[in-house]
Amino acid sequence: MSNISIQGLSIRLGSADIIHDLNLEVQAGEFLVLLGPSGCGKSTLLHSIAGFIEPTDGSISIGGSDVTWADPKDRGIGMVFQSYALYPTMTVAQNMSFGPRIAGVPKAQIEARVNKVAEMLRLSDLLHRKPANLSGGQRQRVAIGRALVRQAQVLLFDEPLSNLDAKLRTSLR
Ligand SMILES: Nc1ncnc2c1ncn2[C@@H]1O[C@H](COP(=O)(O)OP(=O)(O)O)[C@@H](O)[C@H]1O
Ligand SMILES: [Mg+2]
Repeated sequence: MSNISIQGLSIRLGSADIIHDLNLEVQAGEFLVLLGPSGCGKSTLLHSIAGFIEPTDGSISIGGSDVTWADPKDRGIGMVFQSYALYPTMTVAQNMSFGPRIAGVPKAQIEARVNKVAEMLRLSDLLHRKPANLSGGQRQRVAIGRALVRQAQVLLFDEPLSNLDAKLRTSLR
């Protein structure tokens, strides 16, 4: 795990000031929850940490390196998007193994990771399905699985339990 250090972060989208002069320190291993009403900027902040939105001002460091202008793929981040963003042509197993496959992790190691995470997320019986043939809650779990299988230094979860029923939500949490 890596620490995150955000200094003086401002994000303007069009004429709207979404985030204004935000300072935030998250220690390695710390579990931080952002709580706020719809539209307050939670997703925008996560997207900027992951590198999908450029800041208007300020800086973002991960593990001591300034990543303010780094490519998303070079930030060591696993992200669960609010909209899942699964690859529609890939099976559940392929979606979950995508990151490590691109990174050249040995096949046996990837398979072991996918199986372990699938078991934890109750996805073991769905590994060969495509996202179109899954329920919303199942898709959401695949998105969580894809982030976990990467074994990233930083995990960003954007409302990852919102589509699960109460029982599954409690057990996954
Ligand atoms: N591309 C954009 N241009 C202008 N405003 C945007 C854009 N994307 C999001 N917003 C606005 O930014 C605010 C924060 O959005 P968001 O980060 O998605 O909130 P949250 O995730 O907390 O619900 C909202 O008011 C939204 O309408
Ligand atoms: Mg959001």
